[in-house]
Order: sequence, then structure tokens, then C-alpha cells
Amino acid sequence: MIRKVAILANGGDVSGFNAVIRAIVKTAEHNGIECYGFIDGYNGLLKNEYVKLSTGNDETASGILPKGGSIIGSSTNANVFHYKIQENGETVYKDLSDVCVENIKKDGFDCLFTLGGDGTQKSARDFSTKGINVIGVPKTIDNDVACTEITFGYNTAVSVAAEALDRLHTTGETHHRIMVLEVMGRYAGWIALESAIAGGADVALIPEIPYDINKAVEKVNERKEKGKNFSVVVVAEGAAPKGGEITVAGTRDNGAGVDNTKLGGVGQVVAKELERLTGLEARNTTLGYMQRGGTPTAFDRVLSTKYGSKAMELALNGTFGVLTVIKDGRLDYVSLEDVVGKNTKIGAVSGNTSESNIRRVTMDHDLVKTARNIGICLGD
Ligand code: F6P
Repeated sequence: MIRKVAILANGGDVSGFNAVIRAIVKTAEHNGIECYGFIDGYNGLLKNEYVKLSTGNDETASGILPKGGSIIGSSTNANVFHYKIQENGETVYKDLSDVCVENIKKDGFDCLFTLGGDGTQKSARDFSTKGINVIGVPKTIDNDVACTEITFGYNTAVSVAAEALDRLHTTGETHHRIMVLEVMGRYAGWIALESAIAGGADVALIPEIPYDINKAVEKVNERKEKGKNFSVVVVAEGAAPKGGEITVAGTRDNGAGVDNTKLGGVGQVVAKELERLTGLEARNTTLGYMQRGGTPTAFDRVLSTKYGSKAMELALNGTFGVLTVIKDGRLDYVSLEDVVGKNTKIGAVSGNTSESNIRRVTMDHDLVKTARNIGICLGD
């Protein structure tokens, strides 16, 4: 019997966080269940900081459907299983997960909803192992959570990137330039590939296909020969040349036991190379956090609402230790164990933590086939 539930939003923000929160709260209220939100993800769970969420008199969760960000915050440095603290003037990492378990039990939360990507769901799985009723909801603009066809926030990121490509198109055409757009996505090329198709790009370089810059040069030159003295190129931040390395912008401090590599800079590298090898001027634009902020698309609002209401429905049915997913186009759920464990069946690769998997673009995917069919150069 569920009476009281809590939500936390964790990891880099996306458009759609609030739509999921709203859907959980609304479904909970229809069933007479109280809803709370931990502040700033797992950090709030550790510090036991939470607020009541409702669409009633206080209306904390009302009017938030189109709002970007997260009304309960989020955290990218909250690995409570390896938490960074200062002890005797030194930085040490401690497993503080039992404090979180105590907080959940003490305040009588019957279920915890974890809105996040692979790292967040890894911690969710570990809390589930510790006996907490957990239900995950797959979030990230990168679209790389294992076992689901789409994460919330991704469609908005693609739409922002596609709009940027439209704008780069006109300025590129006017000045006869190669316009490069660097997009996010970490080690997966979903944003780059889908936005390249949506934005009519000529070249898309993704992490899953190590690129040969000469292939992109061929594409640009082929266009030049047809009288098109400009080209539009999308580069995923995780793209790397054949036999070369990923371009790293720096190091993040998201705690121990997670990937702290900050990607970025490959767009500039590609632009310089193309300029040198084609004789056309090239300019790079790095889209950055534009992809994560602001109002969600209608698609993301609906997907987030479906995910949120499904998550609450699962709690009502007593189904825990799972992640809501889209499978074969339908709303479903899978065990968190399948999502973060060493699941070889799903063909995922190691992600943000040693035990998490991410879903990358596969060569038989419709998007890859479509891109190739219409002549988008994938750098191979
Ligand atoms: O995982 C989401 C994401 O936006 C990636 O696309 C990007 O590489 C990373 O987060 C940026 O992280 P941070 O917020 O730490 O700069």
C-alpha cells in the first residue's frame, strides 16, 4: 500500500524534467497519494531536504509543463556511494548511501522515483538492492540510456540543433563558407545524427564512426563542383578521427567512480581541417547548453507525461526496481538490473560508471541507413 512517494531529478538538466514531475504528482493525487521532491537530486536525499509537491492549494507542481529546468533542482556531482567530503583538511570519498536509506525509511517514503541517466540509474539499482522501492525514469539529451528507444529531453535537444542548422545554412550559403555545428551527446551520436537529418546537413560525424576528414573534404568538394560553395557539417562532441583521440575540454568534478571527462572542442578542430583542405572558409559554432535549457517540445511534453504517469502506475501496482522505457514504440518497463548491469544481451557499452551501460548508435539503425541513403557523409 503506497501512501507517500518522493521524486528526485539527477544529472545534467533537460527540458521535460518538470513535465515528468507534474505527471507523477497528478497521477499520485488521483490516487490519494502524497508527493514530495528531494532538492538537488541525490544531494537532497543525503541531506534530507525535500519539499511537498502538489497541484492543490500551494500549487508547487502546477503550471510547470512548459517550464525548462527542474523545480526541485538537479545535481551532477552527487554519487552518494562515493561521496566527496573533507576530513581533517583532506578530500576523501565515502559511501553515504546508508544515510539516504535511513532518511527514506525515517520519513516513510514508500517509493522513490529517480529521474536521470545511466549514472543516476546505477545508484537507483544500488538503492533497490538495499531494499528501497525505486522506479527510474530515463532522462538525458544524449538518448543513451540502455533498454529504451528514447529518453525525455532528447527530442528538444534535436529540435534546438535542427533550428541552429537552419540558421547556419543561410549564413553559410551567403558567405560561401563551411559551417560546423558541434553538438552534445557524450559518447553517443544520436543528437548529431538525427539533427543532421532534420537540419539538412551534408556531413555528420559521430563517435560510433571514427572519421576520415578526407571523406568530409570529398563531400564538400563534390558540392563545390555542383556550384554549391557552402556546406553544413554536424560534429558530435564525442567524435574522433580514425586512429585518433576524442577532443577533451577539461575535467569535471562529479565525484569518484564516474566519468569526469568533459568533452568539447572537436568542432573547432574539424573546421580548421576543412578550411585547410578545401580552401573554403570554415566557422565553428558550439551549441552547448542551449540544447538542455528552455521549454520542451510538444513531443517531449507528451513523452515526459507518459513516463511520469507510467512510473506512478507501476508504484501503485507494487512493481519496483524498474525503469520506465519505450520498447517497440510502446510504453513499458524493464528491470534496473538489465539497464545498469553487465548486460551483454542489449549490446550496450560501458557508460558513466564502471557498471553502467550506454546505448550507442548501431550501424543497422534506421537513422544511419536514412542518412546514407540521402547522401549525408558520415566520415567513412
Ligand atoms: O549528459 C548530458 C550532457 O549535456 C552531455 O551531452 C555533455 O557532455 C555533458 O552533459 C555536459 O556536462 P556538464 O553539465 O558537467 O558540463
